[in-house]
Amino acid sequence: MTIASEPANDHAPRGPWAWIANFLKYGANSDSGDPKVWFFRHPLFVRITHWTNVIVLTVMLMSGLQIFNAHSALYWGYQSDFDHPLLSMVAMQNNDGSLKGITQIGSWHFDTTGWLGASQVNGQWVVRGFPSWATIPGTQWLALGRLWHFFFAWLFVANGVIFASLAFYSGHFRRDLKPKTSDITGLPTEIAHHARLQFPKGEAAKSYNGIQRLTYFTVIFIIGPLIVLTGLTMSPTLDTAFPFLPWLFGGRQSARTIHFLCAFSFLLFFFVHIVMVVLSGTWNNIRSMITGNYEIEQTGGRDA
Ligand code: HEM
Repeated sequence: MTIASEPANDHAPRGPWAWIANFLKYGANSDSGDPKVWFFRHPLFVRITHWTNVIVLTVMLMSGLQIFNAHSALYWGYQSDFDHPLLSMVAMQNNDGSLKGITQIGSWHFDTTGWLGASQVNGQWVVRGFPSWATIPGTQWLALGRLWHFFFAWLFVANGVIFASLAFYSGHFRRDLKPKTSDITGLPTEIAHHARLQFPKGEAAKSYNGIQRLTYFTVIFIIGPLIVLTGLTMSPTLDTAFPFLPWLFGGRQSARTIHFLCAFSFLLFFFVHIVMVVLSGTWNNIRSMITGNYEIEQTGGRDA
């Protein structure tokens, strides 16, 4: 719903500070002189579930890394093949007694001292997969990490179910999130527009673009359910009750690896998402995810 408009301003302030202020508010392809209209972009349930998810996923990732550190290697199949991990983070002792962190991915080995394999906790070098600043709790404490992880997992599922139910019921899914065939055929053009920082203006800015629809759909309806299902598959009790779960993923170790990949897909999405929020207007975007209201530039950019 469009609710108010601002007139064009031919005397918009110029100069580097004005440009930076305009960039922080409206993004890279904005012209501070262009007329803007207010548009109601995000319903309340989207805003609440979105910010809940940000907190929940942060805790889930950090407590998940704590659990991973209890055995910092990944395998494929039903059994752990200790001699052939897909990925491992280990430490070796140098001749002078110091620790060297080594991360192995397939046949590659990287020196990741200070980050992965060996890092400092309270000024002491210790053997640990992920460093203490990345885990909850910071020191090695598997039992507490599991408590955090499992408690927030229920919140993640409840938040997801509430979001999905309201998204289908309110039409948000059909209207905003459901990818169209043209999103796939138009992907090269959309990527080229993004690479040139040409974000939609006018009518086109009232809906998500093709890349947004495809990524939001993938994150919410593919990676989200997959991370929950692979998480359930790692529980021995659920495995016994539902043997099709390990069968589905080719074993508990495969499920653990897919779970880890899903978590890092969320992390990758998170970084790209933040970059896009900044490039397309940090304040205008974040404000719209808080209040629902978004300012749209009416002219000057691509309108499709
Ligand atoms: C774990 C982290 C995050 C995840 C999984 C996530 C996921 C999503 C999803 C799925 C949407 C689409 C929502 C819908 O319409 O139903 C969205 C939109 C949005 N997110 Fe996030 N988000 C995360 C973190 C953040 C953070 C930290 C910020 C702020 C800096 C942010 C700002 C936004 C904004 C502004 C939109 C609306 C974009 C637009 O209107 O074009 N997100 N996010």
